[in-house]
Amino acid sequence: MSTESYKRAAAARALTYVEPGMTLGLGTGSTAAHLVNLLGLKVADGFDIRCVPTSEATAEQARRFHIPLTTLDDVPFLDLTIDGADEVDGHLQLIKGGGGALLREKIVATASERMIVIADVSKKVEQLGRFPLPVEVVPFGLAATRLLVSEYAQEVGCLGDISVRGGKDGAPFKTDSGNLILDCAFGKIEDAEALDAMLKLVPGVVENGLFLDIAWKVILAGPGGIEELDMTVDL
Ligand code: 5RP
Repeated sequence: MSTESYKRAAAARALTYVEPGMTLGLGTGSTAAHLVNLLGLKVADGFDIRCVPTSEATAEQARRFHIPLTTLDDVPFLDLTIDGADEVDGHLQLIKGGGGALLREKIVATASERMIVIADVSKKVEQLGRFPLPVEVVPFGLAATRLLVSEYAQEVGCLGDISVRGGKDGAPFKTDSGNLILDCAFGKIEDAEALDAMLKLVPGVVENGLFLDIAWKVILAGPGGIEELDMTVDL
């Protein structure tokens, strides 16, 4: 089986947790796109759902499938969010933002009672940090923000190249909110909570891609089948 079929299998398993009448956050990326496809098929069969997309790309895909959309202004608390991830560790801690949607993804996930993460098994790591940590920053004062990110990260043992993410046309990549992404190649992150806290002290940082204690369940699909990792604390 291919990686795409694993992503689709994880998405299909996640859909078994979606009940009629729910409000659902729709993630961003290639794995979440499988979820939107599969949900679209259910909606075509009359399944009742209202969704909040985490990016313009997901919104566009959902509209193509006639999936009813709403906003967090109309529905500020959702039943469930299902989204992909760039890295997942054994404690359900995540790195997200490879698709540049981390800000809306974090807003939607934290506005949800539960978050289910779907991924192929290659996303599972012993320790976060193999994937460069995306940090969303405002364009104003970019060089100063980058320097502070570097200095503050060093204080918690994180060192490495920090690059401004490029877009397709050679210009910097712009998020749906008009911000930039710093990709921070720190390598293994020994203390993710401390790094998260330090990054939050930088005024130009809008959000970072560490999703700590947010996921309720992780569904990983691979050659050995489907594995579900669960949060150990009851909600
Ligand atoms: C987008 C994300 C994605 O969920 C993450 O990058 C995983 O994407 P994919 O499913 O394509 O591997 O965080 O900002």
